[in-house]
Amino acid sequence: MKVLIVGGGGREHAIAWAVAKSPRVDKIYCAPGNAGIAEVAECVPIGPMEFDKLVDFAKEKEIDLTVVGMDDPLVGGIVDKFEEAGLRVFGPRKNAAILEGSKAFSKDLMKKYHIPTAGYTTVHSPEEAREYLKTARFPIVLKADGLALGKGVLICNTPEEADAGVKELMEDKKFGHSGDNIVIEEFMTGREISVLSFVDGKTIKLMSSAMDHKRAGDGDTGLNTGGMGNFSPSPFYTKDVDAFCRKYIFQPTVDAMAAEGRPFKGVIFFGLMLTEDGPKVLEYNARFGDPEAQVVLPRMKNDIVDVFEACIDGTLDQIDLQFEDNACLCVVLASDGYPVSYEKGFPIHGLETFRDKTDEFVFHAGTKFDDKGEIVTNGGRVLAVTAVAPTLKEARSKAYAATERVTFENKYMRHDIGHAIDEV
Ligand code: AMP
Ligand code: GLY
Repeated sequence: MKVLIVGGGGREHAIAWAVAKSPRVDKIYCAPGNAGIAEVAECVPIGPMEFDKLVDFAKEKEIDLTVVGMDDPLVGGIVDKFEEAGLRVFGPRKNAAILEGSKAFSKDLMKKYHIPTAGYTTVHSPEEAREYLKTARFPIVLKADGLALGKGVLICNTPEEADAGVKELMEDKKFGHSGDNIVIEEFMTGREISVLSFVDGKTIKLMSSAMDHKRAGDGDTGLNTGGMGNFSPSPFYTKDVDAFCRKYIFQPTVDAMAAEGRPFKGVIFFGLMLTEDGPKVLEYNARFGDPEAQVVLPRMKNDIVDVFEACIDGTLDQIDLQFEDNACLCVVLASDGYPVSYEKGFPIHGLETFRDKTDEFVFHAGTKFDDKGEIVTNGGRVLAVTAVAPTLKEARSKAYAATERVTFENKYMRHDIGHAIDEV
């Protein structure tokens, strides 16, 4: 069969890599893809928001299955477009992708269905925000309602910081219309865990847990990024946590979406915080995480195409989702200056050292071929160097050793991905 993947980051490389392992797949296309994805797929220069062009391409090439990796096209309704054209597509429809697309929606959903999350209010103007903040307890969290590349969340320690945050999100419109409304949320403390799941509208099957490192600098300092590294499984995702989340968070979310007439098919990514009062939802994403996909998919035993199809067909209950009893860790190699400003276009060396390895991978995030056909940096996050091993500590040693084999000018990475492993 022929598969089209929409996106061009490290997550889509991991998805393409997993799809390429399926014996059912003869040909993979990726729009727009990147230099690493080009090893397993034919990259086509169509942007992820060019829905009509993507639909035309899928019809012309007789694509059997399209997989959408990114949030923007999902929230924008790409799945509806493909379905209207009679094409098979993996991902939530627009009315379900709102679970990620609007934080106000997701908070209201959790409140209505008693799914544990931080207390909050939604405000619709800077005046309303400032009035509310007069009596608020600090620290407090401000969140742009809409998509903001994971950067629309501000933790404010003082009224002055909150005032500046309201200005940034609602008046200066740093994230455009995403800041028209904001959610003001109680500040929680605790350890964070990511849990990815497949959902077919009614059944949910959990992938393995993972742990992200969102801040740019060592010791969890600096600005929030899309994620600087990740590992799976998280040793803090215990049996008790799992039992609690299954009962009060995972299935209840799927049931709530169905009850609202918004059946969710695709991947739900649960961002959880283990608070003193038990696990609570920080956020939902309507897609694989990046770089969560890079550490979870290498551990998955199933043919991913079977799982995608079961989600589309509503037969996920018949899939026995299985993961290797091992560990995986990835370190993101970024361009120095990410997430603010950085130079790109530098040649990358050492990628060939990963060829034919079965336990070390380099997933490409921001790379491209230059005029001479050489692979050069092309983004803030450039590569995810990933290693699989029997234990997390071994995976960490292997991944960090592998990062030394890859060089490019202005290479930047965190040196403490997986530091929490030492606390276990
Ligand atoms: P989100 O995009 O909602 O996951 O938020 C990004 C990051 O901000 C999370 O990974 C947390 O580290 C932090 N965060 C979000 N909401 C809260 C909260 N209510 N309390 C404390 N930290 C939060
Ligand atoms: N790594 C977090 C995300 O993909 O949203």
